Amino acid sequence: MATYSAATERYTKPAIFFHWVIFLLIALAWLAIEVRGPKGTDSRAFWSNVHFWAGSLVLALAVLRLAWRLWRGAPAGIDSIALLSFLSRLVHLALYLFIFVQPLLGILMINAGGHPVTLAGFNLQIALIGPDPAARTFFKDAHVLIGNLFYWVIGLHALAAIAHHVVFRDNTLRRMF
Ligand code: HEM
Ligand code: HEM
Repeated sequence: MATYSAATERYTKPAIFFHWVIFLLIALAWLAIEVRGPKGTDSRAFWSNVHFWAGSLVLALAVLRLAWRLWRGAPAGIDSIALLSFLSRLVHLALYLFIFVQPLLGILMINAGGHPVTLAGFNLQIALIGPDPAARTFFKDAHVLIGNLFYWVIGLHALAAIAHHVVFRDNTLRRMF
Protein backbone atom coordinates (compact mmCIF):
# COMPACT_ATOMS: atom_id res chain seq x y z
CA MET A 1 0.00 0.00 0.00
CA ALA A 2 1.28 3.48 -0.86
CA THR A 3 0.72 4.83 2.65
CA TYR A 4 2.81 2.00 4.11
CA SER A 5 5.83 2.74 1.91
CA ALA A 6 5.44 6.50 2.56
CA ALA A 7 5.45 5.82 6.29
CA THR A 8 8.59 3.68 6.25
CA GLU A 9 10.61 5.40 3.51
CA ARG A 10 13.48 7.55 4.86
CA TYR A 11 15.39 10.60 3.67
CA THR A 12 18.79 9.67 2.20
CA LYS A 13 21.92 10.18 4.33
CA PRO A 14 23.10 13.23 2.30
CA ALA A 15 19.63 14.84 2.53
CA ILE A 16 19.69 14.36 6.33
CA PHE A 17 23.23 15.75 6.53
CA PHE A 18 22.29 18.87 4.49
CA HIS A 19 19.10 19.44 6.51
CA TRP A 20 20.77 19.47 9.93
CA VAL A 21 24.03 21.21 8.97
CA ILE A 22 22.06 24.01 7.30
CA PHE A 23 19.81 24.20 10.36
CA LEU A 24 22.87 24.59 12.65
CA LEU A 25 24.44 27.23 10.38
CA ILE A 26 21.19 29.26 10.30
CA ALA A 27 20.95 29.03 14.10
CA LEU A 28 24.57 30.27 14.28
CA ALA A 29 23.87 33.13 11.81
CA TRP A 30 20.91 34.19 13.96
CA LEU A 31 22.84 33.92 17.22
CA ALA A 32 25.73 35.93 15.75
CA ILE A 33 23.54 38.79 14.55
CA GLU A 34 21.67 38.96 17.88
CA VAL A 35 24.79 39.09 20.09
CA ARG A 36 27.08 41.16 17.83
CA GLY A 37 26.99 44.31 20.06
CA PRO A 38 27.43 48.02 19.22
CA LYS A 39 29.22 49.47 16.15
CA GLY A 40 33.01 49.85 16.39
CA THR A 41 33.55 47.07 18.98
CA ASP A 42 35.70 43.95 18.54
CA SER A 43 32.67 41.87 19.44
CA ARG A 44 30.74 43.32 16.51
CA ALA A 45 33.58 42.63 14.06
CA PHE A 46 33.96 39.05 15.33
CA TRP A 47 30.27 38.14 15.30
CA SER A 48 29.68 39.86 11.94
CA ASN A 49 32.39 37.62 10.50
CA VAL A 50 30.68 34.58 12.03
CA HIS A 51 27.39 35.76 10.48
CA PHE A 52 28.95 36.19 7.01
CA TRP A 53 30.72 32.82 7.20
CA ALA A 54 27.67 30.88 8.42
CA GLY A 55 25.37 32.60 5.91
CA SER A 56 27.71 32.07 2.93
CA LEU A 57 28.13 28.40 3.84
CA VAL A 58 24.33 28.07 3.88
CA LEU A 59 24.26 29.32 0.28
CA ALA A 60 27.04 26.97 -0.84
CA LEU A 61 25.38 23.97 0.82
CA ALA A 62 21.95 25.03 -0.52
CA VAL A 63 23.26 24.60 -4.08
CA LEU A 64 24.49 21.06 -3.33
CA ARG A 65 21.32 20.27 -1.39
CA LEU A 66 19.00 21.35 -4.20
CA ALA A 67 21.06 19.42 -6.77
CA TRP A 68 20.81 16.31 -4.58
CA ARG A 69 17.06 16.84 -4.06
CA LEU A 70 16.41 17.23 -7.80
CA TRP A 71 18.49 14.15 -8.56
CA ARG A 72 17.28 11.80 -5.82
CA GLY A 73 13.90 13.26 -4.80
CA ALA A 74 12.36 12.87 -1.34
CA PRO A 75 10.14 10.27 0.32
CA ALA A 76 6.40 10.70 -0.31
CA GLY A 77 4.53 12.89 2.18
CA ILE A 78 3.01 11.26 5.24
CA ASP A 79 0.00 13.59 5.74
CA SER A 80 -3.23 11.99 4.63
CA ILE A 81 -5.25 15.21 5.07
CA ALA A 82 -5.02 17.17 1.79
CA LEU A 83 -4.80 20.59 3.47
CA LEU A 84 -1.92 19.53 5.75
CA SER A 85 -0.07 17.92 2.86
CA PHE A 86 -0.48 21.13 0.84
CA LEU A 87 0.71 23.28 3.78
CA SER A 88 3.79 21.13 4.36
CA ARG A 89 4.74 21.35 0.66
CA LEU A 90 4.26 25.10 0.74
CA VAL A 91 6.43 25.52 3.85
CA HIS A 92 9.16 23.24 2.44
CA LEU A 93 9.17 25.27 -0.78
CA ALA A 94 9.43 28.51 1.24
CA LEU A 95 12.33 27.03 3.24
CA TYR A 96 14.18 26.02 0.08
CA LEU A 97 13.71 29.56 -1.29
CA PHE A 98 14.88 31.04 2.02
CA ILE A 99 18.24 29.22 2.05
CA PHE A 100 19.05 30.79 -1.36
CA VAL A 101 17.40 34.20 -1.13
CA GLN A 102 18.44 35.19 2.41
CA PRO A 103 22.23 34.76 2.01
CA LEU A 104 22.08 36.29 -1.51
CA LEU A 105 20.32 39.38 -0.13
CA GLY A 106 23.02 39.65 2.56
CA ILE A 107 25.81 39.52 -0.04
CA LEU A 108 24.01 41.97 -2.39
CA MET A 109 23.42 44.37 0.55
CA ILE A 110 27.14 44.53 1.32
CA ASN A 111 28.14 44.78 -2.36
CA ALA A 112 25.61 47.57 -3.01
CA GLY A 113 27.13 49.38 -0.02
CA GLY A 114 30.39 49.49 -2.01
CA HIS A 115 32.28 46.54 -0.44
CA PRO A 116 33.05 43.00 -1.52
CA VAL A 117 32.10 40.30 1.01
CA THR A 118 35.28 38.98 2.60
CA LEU A 119 35.28 35.79 4.63
CA ALA A 120 37.80 36.10 7.49
CA GLY A 121 40.80 33.78 7.10
CA PHE A 122 39.82 32.81 3.58
CA ASN A 123 41.27 34.47 0.51
CA LEU A 124 38.03 35.10 -1.35
CA GLN A 125 36.18 38.28 -2.21
CA ILE A 126 32.58 38.06 -3.31
CA ALA A 127 31.42 41.00 -5.44
CA LEU A 128 28.26 40.28 -7.44
CA ILE A 129 27.29 43.92 -8.07
CA GLY A 130 28.82 47.41 -7.74
CA PRO A 131 27.86 50.25 -5.34
CA ASP A 132 24.22 51.36 -5.47
CA PRO A 133 22.85 53.20 -2.40
CA ALA A 134 19.15 52.85 -3.34
CA ALA A 135 19.52 49.12 -3.98
CA ARG A 136 21.43 48.77 -0.71
CA THR A 137 18.44 50.10 1.24
CA PHE A 138 16.14 47.68 -0.57
CA PHE A 139 18.40 44.64 0.00
CA LYS A 140 18.93 45.55 3.64
CA ASP A 141 15.20 46.03 4.35
CA ALA A 142 14.40 42.75 2.59
CA HIS A 143 17.20 40.87 4.42
CA VAL A 144 16.12 42.13 7.84
CA LEU A 145 12.41 41.58 7.13
CA ILE A 146 12.77 38.06 5.70
CA GLY A 147 15.35 37.16 8.36
CA ASN A 148 12.93 38.10 11.13
CA LEU A 149 9.86 36.62 9.39
CA PHE A 150 11.50 33.22 9.04
CA TYR A 151 11.93 32.83 12.80
CA TRP A 152 8.18 32.21 12.62
CA VAL A 153 8.16 30.02 9.49
CA ILE A 154 10.95 27.81 10.88
CA GLY A 155 9.22 27.76 14.28
CA LEU A 156 6.02 26.56 12.59
CA HIS A 157 7.97 23.92 10.63
CA ALA A 158 9.69 22.66 13.80
CA LEU A 159 6.39 22.63 15.72
CA ALA A 160 4.75 20.60 12.93
CA ALA A 161 7.62 18.08 13.07
CA ILE A 162 7.30 17.78 16.86
CA ALA A 163 3.49 17.48 16.63
CA HIS A 164 3.89 14.60 14.15
CA HIS A 165 6.20 12.86 16.59
CA VAL A 166 4.32 13.50 19.85
CA VAL A 167 0.65 13.83 18.83
CA PHE A 168 0.26 11.79 15.61
CA ARG A 169 3.09 9.42 16.64
CA ASP A 170 4.18 8.81 13.03
CA ASN A 171 7.58 8.49 11.36
CA THR A 172 7.96 12.10 10.13
CA LEU A 173 10.70 13.23 12.54
CA ARG A 174 12.50 9.86 12.72
CA ARG A 175 12.97 9.68 8.94
CA MET A 176 14.92 12.96 9.01
CA PHE A 177 17.52 11.42 11.42
C1 HEM B 1 20.79 32.03 5.96
C2 HEM B 1 21.63 32.99 6.19
C3 HEM B 1 21.31 34.27 6.91
C4 HEM B 1 20.36 34.55 7.87
C5 HEM B 1 19.35 33.61 8.50
C6 HEM B 1 20.51 35.96 8.19
C7 HEM B 1 19.72 36.64 9.11
C8 HEM B 1 19.85 37.96 9.43
C9 HEM B 1 18.95 38.70 10.29
C10 HEM B 1 17.73 38.12 11.00
C11 HEM B 1 19.39 39.98 10.34
C12 HEM B 1 18.72 41.17 11.00
C13 HEM B 1 18.98 41.38 12.44
C14 HEM B 1 18.11 42.52 12.89
O1 HEM B 1 16.95 42.27 13.24
O2 HEM B 1 18.58 43.67 12.80
C15 HEM B 1 20.60 40.06 9.53
C16 HEM B 1 21.38 41.19 9.38
C17 HEM B 1 22.49 41.26 8.58
N1 HEM B 1 22.98 40.27 7.75
FE1 HEM B 1 22.27 38.41 7.58
N2 HEM B 1 21.54 36.50 7.44
C18 HEM B 1 22.05 35.49 6.64
C19 HEM B 1 23.09 35.62 5.73
C20 HEM B 1 23.86 36.74 5.55
C21 HEM B 1 24.97 36.86 4.63
C22 HEM B 1 25.50 35.72 3.74
C23 HEM B 1 25.45 38.11 4.76
C24 HEM B 1 26.60 38.75 4.05
C25 HEM B 1 27.64 38.12 3.62
C26 HEM B 1 24.65 38.81 5.73
C27 HEM B 1 24.83 40.12 6.15
C28 HEM B 1 24.08 40.77 7.10
C29 HEM B 1 24.36 42.12 7.56
C30 HEM B 1 25.49 43.03 7.10
C31 HEM B 1 23.35 42.42 8.50
C32 HEM B 1 23.20 43.71 9.28
C33 HEM B 1 22.27 44.66 8.60
C34 HEM B 1 22.28 45.97 9.37
O3 HEM B 1 21.66 45.99 10.45
O4 HEM B 1 22.92 46.89 8.90
N3 HEM B 1 23.68 37.94 6.20
N4 HEM B 1 20.85 38.82 8.98
C1 HEM C 1 16.80 26.45 9.63
C2 HEM C 1 15.96 25.59 9.88
C3 HEM C 1 15.32 24.60 8.94
C4 HEM C 1 15.22 24.58 7.56
C5 HEM C 1 15.74 25.62 6.57
C6 HEM C 1 14.51 23.37 7.20
C7 HEM C 1 14.20 22.99 5.89
C8 HEM C 1 13.52 21.86 5.54
C9 HEM C 1 13.14 21.49 4.19
C10 HEM C 1 13.44 22.34 2.95
C11 HEM C 1 12.53 20.29 4.24
C12 HEM C 1 11.98 19.49 3.07
C13 HEM C 1 13.01 18.49 2.64
C14 HEM C 1 12.78 17.92 1.26
O1 HEM C 1 11.64 17.61 0.90
O2 HEM C 1 13.78 17.80 0.53
C15 HEM C 1 12.51 19.87 5.63
C16 HEM C 1 12.00 18.67 6.10
C17 HEM C 1 11.92 18.35 7.44
N1 HEM C 1 12.35 19.11 8.52
FE1 HEM C 1 13.25 20.88 8.44
N2 HEM C 1 14.19 22.68 8.35
C18 HEM C 1 14.67 23.41 9.44
C19 HEM C 1 14.57 23.08 10.77
C20 HEM C 1 13.96 21.96 11.26
C21 HEM C 1 13.78 21.63 12.67
C22 HEM C 1 14.24 22.51 13.82
C23 HEM C 1 13.13 20.42 12.72
C24 HEM C 1 12.67 19.60 13.88
C25 HEM C 1 12.31 20.02 15.04
C26 HEM C 1 12.91 19.99 11.34
C27 HEM C 1 12.31 18.81 10.97
C28 HEM C 1 12.06 18.41 9.67
C29 HEM C 1 11.44 17.14 9.33
C30 HEM C 1 10.98 16.08 10.31
C31 HEM C 1 11.35 17.11 7.93
C32 HEM C 1 10.73 16.00 7.08
C33 HEM C 1 9.29 16.35 6.81
C34 HEM C 1 8.58 15.32 5.96
O3 HEM C 1 9.06 14.23 5.83
O4 HEM C 1 7.51 15.69 5.42
N3 HEM C 1 13.42 20.96 10.49
N4 HEM C 1 13.11 20.86 6.41
